[in-house]
Amino acid sequence: MRVIPVASGKGGVGKSLISANLAVALAQSGQRVVLADLDLGASNLHLVIGHHSPKSGIGTFLGNINSDFNEVIAETDIPGLRFIAGDTEIPGTANLRPTQRNALVKQLLALKSNTDVLIIDLGAGTHQSILDFFLLSGQGIVVTSPAVTSVLNAYVFLKNTVFRLMYTIFGKGTAANAYLESIRKEGAQKLYIPRMLPEIKKIDPVSHQKFVEHMDRLHPRIITNIVDDPKEADVAMKIRRSCAEYLSLKVEYLGVIYRDSLQNTSLASRIPITIYKPQAILSQGIYRIADKILQSNDEQFVLTDKEIESSFQETGIEAEIDFESKMNYVEDLLHSGALSQGDLIETIKSQQFEISKLKKENNFIKLKLSKALAQGFNL
Ligand SMILES: Nc1ncnc2c1ncn2[C@@H]1O[C@H](COP(=O)(O)OP(=O)(O)OP(=O)(O)O)[C@@H](O)[C@H]1O
Ligand SMILES: [Mg+2]
Repeated sequence: MRVIPVASGKGGVGKSLISANLAVALAQSGQRVVLADLDLGASNLHLVIGHHSPKSGIGTFLGNINSDFNEVIAETDIPGLRFIAGDTEIPGTANLRPTQRNALVKQLLALKSNTDVLIIDLGAGTHQSILDFFLLSGQGIVVTSPAVTSVLNAYVFLKNTVFRLMYTIFGKGTAANAYLESIRKEGAQKLYIPRMLPEIKKIDPVSHQKFVEHMDRLHPRIITNIVDDPKEADVAMKIRRSCAEYLSLKVEYLGVIYRDSLQNTSLASRIPITIYKPQAILSQGIYRIADKILQSNDEQFVLTDKEIESSFQETGIEAEIDFESKMNYVEDLLHSGALSQGDLIETIKSQQFEISKLKKENNFIKLKLSKALAQGFNL
């Protein structure tokens, strides 16, 4: 079974659209596909796939992990495609308890008995469980748009993925783990894999060897979506350069998808665009990517069950890998020449915009609170 998690650092770049339509395209070419919505708390994949409002989904299973997982797998109108809905009621994927994540991974991997491709639509961000689901495969997809903030977030996502892998492999009590902890305390600037590896090799050759073997199989694939101009396709090169230079990570470029106004009509009619308009430029982009996936090696990522199990059981590690704030990562991109001064200005501007938006929201809440107080509510 090919496992294809679809992630992005930034939200709203087309993960759900791509997951749903890739699932359709692969099912149409004869694959037995399961599409799972793991964007818990913000699940909306059923709208993209045109599935009726789901009665049960992953949330139902997580409420009782001993229940029958088959109950939450629904047939769809598309031959060969089955669908697992998410849940908007339960808080995001990041809040899953280790036992819940563990049970879910086990059930998802067990699908292999009657499934060729499992596509997982992940939530935005770099929370630990999102990284763990992404690491179920060596060939997960990272979606970015050409916007510089999106590119930056994609890189941040990949950096956190590599460090999550390190933590998973360098078990507690190993010299490599102690080294990683110590260097982490020194700050994000020091966290450059090519600089760390020789030291790890010296102090803990066994852990080093394991990590290198895993990295050899980790080749995330980038999709640039919502492209208007062919030149914008180059953004993936920025990610590639920074990943090679700072993470010793080889990323693949899976494809480019153009902005397509037909998508709005397709979404409104709740029919995936690959069915609504197979000849649309967006659908063509999806079919090209589906072909590439089918032609590539079905290389499974070989974290052993035990490794996955222990990674999920590590409750001690914070819910989020917080290798300092995003601004530290800007340095990686700047130093490798991937980010121009213009890009940097655009990033700062967009952050300022986000801050001013937050301030406005904050003021709005303050206003509401003071009004409520003035009316004598007992808060
Ligand atoms: N290539 C495209 N052309 C036109 N519209 C697009 C394209 N890609 C995505 N969209 C639109 O952009 C919006 C965001 O897409 P989508 O919901 O798939 O993103 P997402 O990454 O899953 O978001 P979230 O992080 O909120 O889950 C949707 O309205 C979708 O229809
Ligand atoms: Mg989505």
